[in-house]
Amino acid sequence: MPSLDKFIIRGGNRLDGTVTISGAKNASLALMPAALLASGVTRLENTPRLRDISTMSALLERMGVVVRHPGTSLELDTSNITSYEAPYEMVKKMRASFYVLGPLVGRFGQARVSYPGGCAWGPRPVDLHLKALEALGADIQIEAGYVVASAKRLRGADITFDVSSVGATGNTLMAAVLADGTTVIRNAATEPEITQLAAFLVRMGARIDGIGTNLLTVEGVDELQSANDTNIPDRIEAGTFLAATAAAGGRITLEHVEPQHLTAVLGKFREAGCTVLTGEDSITLESPERLSPVDVTTAIYPGFPTDMQAQWMALMAVAPGTSVVTDTVYLDRFNHVPELQRLGARIEVNRNAAVIRGVERLTGATVMSTDLRASASLIIAGLIADGSTEVLRVYHIDRGYEAIELKLRNLGADIQRVDSEDY
Ligand code: EPZ
Repeated sequence: MPSLDKFIIRGGNRLDGTVTISGAKNASLALMPAALLASGVTRLENTPRLRDISTMSALLERMGVVVRHPGTSLELDTSNITSYEAPYEMVKKMRASFYVLGPLVGRFGQARVSYPGGCAWGPRPVDLHLKALEALGADIQIEAGYVVASAKRLRGADITFDVSSVGATGNTLMAAVLADGTTVIRNAATEPEITQLAAFLVRMGARIDGIGTNLLTVEGVDELQSANDTNIPDRIEAGTFLAATAAAGGRITLEHVEPQHLTAVLGKFREAGCTVLTGEDSITLESPERLSPVDVTTAIYPGFPTDMQAQWMALMAVAPGTSVVTDTVYLDRFNHVPELQRLGARIEVNRNAAVIRGVERLTGATVMSTDLRASASLIIAGLIADGSTEVLRVYHIDRGYEAIELKLRNLGADIQRVDSEDY
């Protein structure tokens, strides 16, 4: 059972200084299973130390992978795979475990992977993953909550996704690289994490055209070789620190970021009145005297990411005026709203849109984390609320943010982690 640590935040401090952004969680969670496609040692630099990375490491170890994670250098030895199974108790902890399906079927012709349950904010289907694998010739059976997939050898296919899906694109790419023949993936996701995955597969010897576009063409090969890579920076961690500073007031510089991964988000901060300067691998944001309300509609990359929706809502909670936040990727990702309302935010949700009326100030209270990005929005709200805010169940935040309280304290925030045993 993950620890029930909580954060105690005393609001009102500005955020000033420099923060180093960690490697991208959602890139690591794709690159790690990709290592299964070859036998040997894979080294992934700039891999963040997160709960989700530990969960994926444990799953791969259960399959026979030898995992070492000194510092931020992750080493995977896939020379001796002994199991093709991802059990329920692991997949239920993290949906991204489902990413092992494509490589297992692609290289070993078999896999038994637990059907991922819903997540904190509702059902999250995998129909697109399964349809793509069937198109590649896999036999898919659902047995007692498990996806049982088998294939002599996958064969290339022409696949069109009705919905742009990061996970389904990743799984299909990892299945197709060892298939017999050509695979075309239409309406593929173009998130930077998928672009990195495709480039990594090419380093391993795969043949992929159209990388970075939504039309990917894969020429199957017979074998791949283990390769090394360096993780791209986490664009959502970066956006979260920018939102915290825009809300709390201050001036911060993010280092080790890729500004072009955040174009839509930076545009919205500028619209809200922030000064935003970008360098080769840095972003500097200065908050305005007075925030302007700005509407946001999430979209697939390069649009405004759904993973920044909750953080933006916390910012708009104190922007004078009315703003509307609409999520078109997940229609029910609003578990953070009741918790923000406990802090005094004035938000009304209507289907997949939230109308936010900015208030003078929020007031500290005890709030509950429900999912990773909801937790981030509660921390932002706590940083600006009067008095003390306790954010419970911060294991959600530890899934996707490396030492967030240390990074925030270094910027001037008054935030402490309290061990669950101490309360
Ligand atoms: C990835 O999840 C990310 N996770 C999510 O980040 C992110 O919110 C999401 O992409 C959207 O950007 C990882 O990369 C590990 P999708 P994924 O398949 O791949 C529907 C975080 O905070 N869909 O792109 O699961 C789905 O319901 C996490 O780091 C189907 O209908 O998302 C959703 O509406 C949270 N059928 C839409 O597509 C399918 O088979 C996009 O989902 C698959 C998806």
